[in-house]
Amino acid sequence: MVSGLEEVVAAETILSDVDGQAGRLIIRGQSLDELVKHATYESVLTLLWEGFFKKQPPASEMPILLGTAREEVFEHLAAADTDILKQPTVDAVRALIARLPDADDIGSALLLVAAPAVFTPGILRLQSKLAPIAPNAKLGHAADMLRMLSGEAPTPEQASALDRYLVTVSDHGLNASTFAARVVASTRAGLTSATLAAMSALKGPLHGGAPGPVLDALDSIDSPAHASGWLQDALNRGERLMGFGHRVYRVRDPRADALKEAIKNLAQAGQVDTTRLQLAESVEAAALDLLARKKPNRPLQTNVEFYTALLLEALGLPREAFTCVFAAGRSGGWIAHAREQMLNGRLIRPQSRYVGPQPEPRRDAAA
Ligand code: COA
Repeated sequence: MVSGLEEVVAAETILSDVDGQAGRLIIRGQSLDELVKHATYESVLTLLWEGFFKKQPPASEMPILLGTAREEVFEHLAAADTDILKQPTVDAVRALIARLPDADDIGSALLLVAAPAVFTPGILRLQSKLAPIAPNAKLGHAADMLRMLSGEAPTPEQASALDRYLVTVSDHGLNASTFAARVVASTRAGLTSATLAAMSALKGPLHGGAPGPVLDALDSIDSPAHASGWLQDALNRGERLMGFGHRVYRVRDPRADALKEAIKNLAQAGQVDTTRLQLAESVEAAALDLLARKKPNRPLQTNVEFYTALLLEALGLPREAFTCVFAAGRSGGWIAHAREQMLNGRLIRPQSRYVGPQPEPRRDAAA
């Protein structure tokens, strides 16, 4: 049996290919490093969803349709009662998503992509006793997300940095959350069910929950001079260094570079705390050095979450919202995979190998 299903091929997909040896990610025929140069998140939805819905809108209509979906889901924020608001942000957002209709058409798909983008700033503001800010359907998805959080229009550099983030994380092969979405979709449950399963898998710290702890580590390390000692102590305690290592990549995660460039663009515009960036670079170098010495035969490189943490922090997003922002980007991929599974796949139902005790022979049978 293969532990963690490593190297098991569990689906055929036209959506994305993660080449762990070459460090390359292809999203529907386009390499990520090229895609991030020209795509918006809305255009990536058109790319990912092509052929998976009966009424696929043309690319030119996607921005306004997604904007209208943001306006529609905003109404659902009214359901955020005090019990929901007491929960961690990711759980509160998931609870609101659970109230959306569980269908499998393009309208539902748009609502499910709009939901984390609208609920995350809305919940954060309500948790801070501030009134939620209604979406503006005419704005780009990323720009509107930032505006709904702060109440102010983001700078063009900020909007484009978040847009690049959403594009970068939009799809990534059969990761744990996408697999969860496909398992649920294979039963023919609706897209809301598939998204909820995916989001539940995403929140774990070994998947999309890593960036918050990356910042906790940076806070605790505090200065480049402490990096090596702090990280070595963590490894001695048997802890994993968050933001490093990957199941598939044996070289650097290409998404880390796409995000590092976004941070550099922000830095050039004077919109990043350069001391924080220098600390992060020192921590990254120290971590790579220690991990190479600890595991000489298992390349452990920087993954997407390390630079996600820095980028989202620079954009003013609080760390408790990072998993939800990840979901805002990955939801497009989850839905594409769920539809691909519904249209072309079969019920996913693997087997387990029983290693428990056998029943005792019955005494009366022996007599
Ligand atoms: N820090 C320290 N050691 C690590 C490590 C890390 N970030 N990632 C892997 N390792 C070690 C493991 O402890 C294991 O050592 P062992 O054989 O002595 O037990 C070895 O490397 C192999 O790890 P394994 O658990 O088989 O890797 P995986 O493919 O199951 O895990 C991750 C992949 C991503 C879960 C793992 O690298 C990790 O936990 N990273 C930190 C969390 C993170 O950044 N997640 C975001 C992923 S995008």
